[in-house]
Amino acid sequence: MRSPYSNNPKNLGELGQQVLADKRLILVSNRGPIEYRAGGGDDHESQACYGSGGVAVALSAAARYAPVTWVASAMTDADRQVAQRSEDNIIGGDSEEHPWRVRFVVVPDGVYERYYNLVSNPVLWFLQHSLWKRLERPSLWHDIQEAWEQGYVPVNRRFAEAVLAELQMADTAPCVMFHDYHLYLAPLYVRAQAPEAILTHFIHIPWPPPETWQQLPWDVTEDICRGLLANDVVGFQTADSAHNFLATCERFVAGAEVRFDPDEASIRLSGHLTKVRHHPISVDVAELGRRMASPEVEAYRHKLAPLRGRYTIVRVDRVDPSKNIVAGFKAFDLLLQRHPELIGQVKFLALLVPSRTGIPEYRRYTEEVLTAIRDINSRYQRAGWRPIELLYENSYPQALAAMSLYDVLLVNSLADGMNLVSKEGPIVNERDGVLVLSRAAGSHAELGEHALSVDPTDIEGTAEALASALSMPEAERRARASRLRQTIGRNDLAVWLGNQLEDVRSVALERGVRSTASVAR
Ligand code: G6P
Repeated sequence: MRSPYSNNPKNLGELGQQVLADKRLILVSNRGPIEYRAGGGDDHESQACYGSGGVAVALSAAARYAPVTWVASAMTDADRQVAQRSEDNIIGGDSEEHPWRVRFVVVPDGVYERYYNLVSNPVLWFLQHSLWKRLERPSLWHDIQEAWEQGYVPVNRRFAEAVLAELQMADTAPCVMFHDYHLYLAPLYVRAQAPEAILTHFIHIPWPPPETWQQLPWDVTEDICRGLLANDVVGFQTADSAHNFLATCERFVAGAEVRFDPDEASIRLSGHLTKVRHHPISVDVAELGRRMASPEVEAYRHKLAPLRGRYTIVRVDRVDPSKNIVAGFKAFDLLLQRHPELIGQVKFLALLVPSRTGIPEYRRYTEEVLTAIRDINSRYQRAGWRPIELLYENSYPQALAAMSLYDVLLVNSLADGMNLVSKEGPIVNERDGVLVLSRAAGSHAELGEHALSVDPTDIEGTAEALASALSMPEAERRARASRLRQTIGRNDLAVWLGNQLEDVRSVALERGVRSTASVAR
C-alpha cells in the first residue's frame, strides 16, 4: 500500500507541524548527532564532526518541525571537555550550523566502559543478533553482573536525569523518543517522575524470541521489559521483532495483559498501555540524490575508478561479527575457484568501517577479516590485478561513491535489524547492479523479491548467487534494479518518520487536554 507520506514532503510537513507544533522533541540515543575531536590547530579548539550513524541521519529530519534537544553520551574526551565548559552540558541550538541543542550525558570512564564495552555490545547486541556464545563462556552472567549494576543501570539513570532536566525546562508539551538497546531502563526512571510525558522507544536491532532472552537471568530480562513498558509506544523494524517482544513480555512480566492482534498490538501493565508497532526504517531518497551530486562524492568516484574491475562486487559494513564479512570472502574465494575465467576480471571492493574496537570480540574479528583478505589476495594476485581492495575507514561519501559503481552489492549479514546499505545501494547505483541479500536482514521482507536471496551461513549458495548476479542478462538486471528503486522510493524515510508522528499523535489524542508537561517537581 502506498503511504500518504512517500515522496510527498508536503504531507509529512503538514503532519509534522500538526503533531509537533506545540511540542519540544527530545531525542535520546547513546550516539548523538555530533562528536568533537581534539583540535590540531594552535588554539587547540575542539572540532565538531557531524555523526554519520544511521539513527542520527534518520532523526535529523524531525528537527524541521519542532525544536529538538538531543540527549546523548559524551563519547570522546573532546566531547567531555566541551560539555564541561558549557552550562548544563548543553551545546548548540543557536545557529543553522547547530540546528539542535545537544545535552551531553557525562559519566566517568569506568562506568561508560562497563555500560558500552561490557553490557550493551557484548551482551545485548550479541544476544539480540543470536551471536551469544554460551558454550564458550558458561558463566558469562557472573562475569558481567558487576558491569550491569555499576555500568548499565547508572548510565540509564543518568540519561533519565538528563531527560527530566529537559522536561523541567520545557515550556511546551514534550515528546521523548528513546532509541535502541543502550537505554532499555531509562524510560521507567523518567516515567516515575513524569507520568504525563509522551514517551516512545524505537529499537533498531532484532528482538529475538523469549527462549533467547531466557539465557539472561530472569530478573534482568524482566527489568528490560518493564523499562520498555514505561513507554507509550515501542517500535520495531519488523513484524517478527514486534511479535517476539509481545511474547517476551507475556513470558517474563507477571500481570502483563498482552494483545497480539497485529493492528492493535499492545501491552497493558498496572493500568498503563504500551502500543507495539513495527515501522521499517529507510533512507532519505532526495537527500541521497543531493549527496551524490556533491563534489566530495565526485572526488571519491575518481579515486575509486582505478580500483574497479571489468566486474565489481562491493560491500559496505562496520566490522561486526553480525555482518558475516569473512563468510562473504569465503564465498568470493569459491567463486574464483569455480569460475577461473573471472580471475583478473572481477574485483571486490570492501569498504569496512572500524567499529567498537574496545571490545575483544571485535578486535579478534577484525584480525580474521584482515587474514581472509591477505590469504585470498596472496593466492590469486596477478600482475596488475589484486582481487580484494580494502578501504578500512569511516567515510560515508566514499561509501556512496563505491555503491554508485557496483555490479553486485553483497549484504550477507547473519542477523540485521534492517540494513540501510541494502536500501542506499540500489538508490545511488548507476550500473543496474544486482543486490545479493541475506534472508536474515530486516530489509529482506521488503526487498527480497527483487534481490538474489542467500542464507548467510550457506557459503556455496552465496558463491552461486554471486555467479548468477555477475552473469545475469542485462534486461533482468535492469528490471530488478528498477523495482528495487521503486520499492525503496515508495517507503522511504519520510514514511518511517510519518509513522512515528502518527503514533505520537494517537497517544496525544488519547491523553486529550492532559498533553501539557507535568513533571513531579
Ligand atoms: C548500528 C545499529 C544501531 C546502533 C548502532 C550503534 O548502526 O544499527 O541500531 O544504534 O549500531 O553503533 P555504535 O557505533 O554507536 O556502537
